[in-house]
Amino acid sequence: MSEAATPPGSGPERGSVFPPGFDPTAESAEKTLCFRGFWAWAVLILLIAICVSVFMWLLRKCIQGPAYRKANRIDGKVVIVTGCNTGIGKETVLELAKRGARVYMACRDAGRCEAARLEIMDRSHNQQLFNRTLDLGSLQSVRNFVERFKAEESRLDLLINNAGVMACPRTLTTDGYEQQFGVNHLGHFLLTNLLLDRLKQSSPSRIVVVSSAAHLFGRINREDLMSEKKYGKFFGAYSQSKLANILFTCKLSSILKNSRVTVNCCHPGVVRTELNRHFAGPGWMKSVLQTGSLYFFKSPKAGAQTSLRLALDPGLEGSTGGYYSDCMRWPLVPWARNMETADWLWRESEKLVGLPPMEPPPPNQNQNQNPTQNSNGTQNGNAANGSREMQSVETVVVNRS
Ligand SMILES: NC(=O)c1ccc[n+]([C@@H]2O[C@H](COP(=O)([O-])OP(=O)(O)OC[C@H]3O[C@@H](n4cnc5c(N)ncnc54)[C@H](OP(=O)(O)O)[C@@H]3O)[C@@H](O)[C@H]2O)c1
Repeated sequence: MSEAATPPGSGPERGSVFPPGFDPTAESAEKTLCFRGFWAWAVLILLIAICVSVFMWLLRKCIQGPAYRKANRIDGKVVIVTGCNTGIGKETVLELAKRGARVYMACRDAGRCEAARLEIMDRSHNQQLFNRTLDLGSLQSVRNFVERFKAEESRLDLLINNAGVMACPRTLTTDGYEQQFGVNHLGHFLLTNLLLDRLKQSSPSRIVVVSSAAHLFGRINREDLMSEKKYGKFFGAYSQSKLANILFTCKLSSILKNSRVTVNCCHPGVVRTELNRHFAGPGWMKSVLQTGSLYFFKSPKAGAQTSLRLALDPGLEGSTGGYYSDCMRWPLVPWARNMETADWLWRESEKLVGLPPMEPPPPNQNQNQNPTQNSNGTQNGNAANGSREMQSVETVVVNRS
């Protein structure tokens, strides 16, 4: 009767070695499950780690952008690179030196330039590197540099306008112009114009202008070019100066049509350099930015690749007036290719740096132009000096015919 009431297998078997209530099959199944569970987790974690690593590696590759990979050399070609004691400029010079160029390093700080020059000579095994002083915030310094360069070299194959200053507090150049507009645009404007004759004589030759995607935020403020009324460090003055770089490129490319001198500009990417030295945020934000930049910003070497392609690629021999980023040509937004603004900026820049007009002013423009005033309210030194200074620039240094 009692046996019939107990279902088979639900109790201890007669003669079993296991204590009552113990099921050995359930125990082993549980053990197997635990065993499988551990490895399942381990494999899952490993897979996630691999996926994250691959994703991070791919993202890093995307951030670094494409590299210029052609192995062409430019032995003996004469090159000027501005602002190359550090950052993108230094990496640019290193690569050009490795390819045999004769490079004039145009920097404002002779000591820092010398340190960079010695390092690059060491790494490139190229002794043809020269330390020359150029402060783009002083028009006289630009003229002195050009005068010395022309006495030393009869040709110029490549000019890279790389130097730049970003988001500094509002200060003035030696000539009384707003620093970012003065250094990033006006200094390079004068430098390039004074070197055009050499570039034409050495054609095919190239000009590379390092601009920035910040131009997208920029507008040429005709009423307040020197940001006297309102000064925005980044979205105002810096963006305007980088837009000016692009308009300068557009205008110059049309002036140099059929001369076999090409001019292109680029955005190097967001690059880990000293450019943010004027960043005024709290200390913790600087640390976060610095740490984040190790991964999320391009290295200076990666940042130099678009400049290098524009400088070196034989495939770009006849290409001019373009805007490049990540080694590719990109279309320009309407305000960066507005030729009326480019014409106006060109004429205004000529006045500000004291160059004679290259083209007659448009018929509708007021012929009685006021000499441009600097932010001190005084007349610009060069314009105020009138034709004597202009003539000396034109006859001694410039031959822009
Ligand atoms: N880094 C980026 O993310 C980024 C993005 C877009 C565009 N850019 C552009 O890339 C170019 C190179 O910048 P970078 O990132 O390599 O910055 P960087 O490391 O600060 O280098 C700038 C260079 O310009 C020089 N410079 C500054 N003011 C000068 C002056 N008055 N005269 C002569 N040289 C002067 C600096 O000389 P000192 O060392 O003596 O100051 C330095 O050699 C700039 O035109 C910048 O606007 C950079």
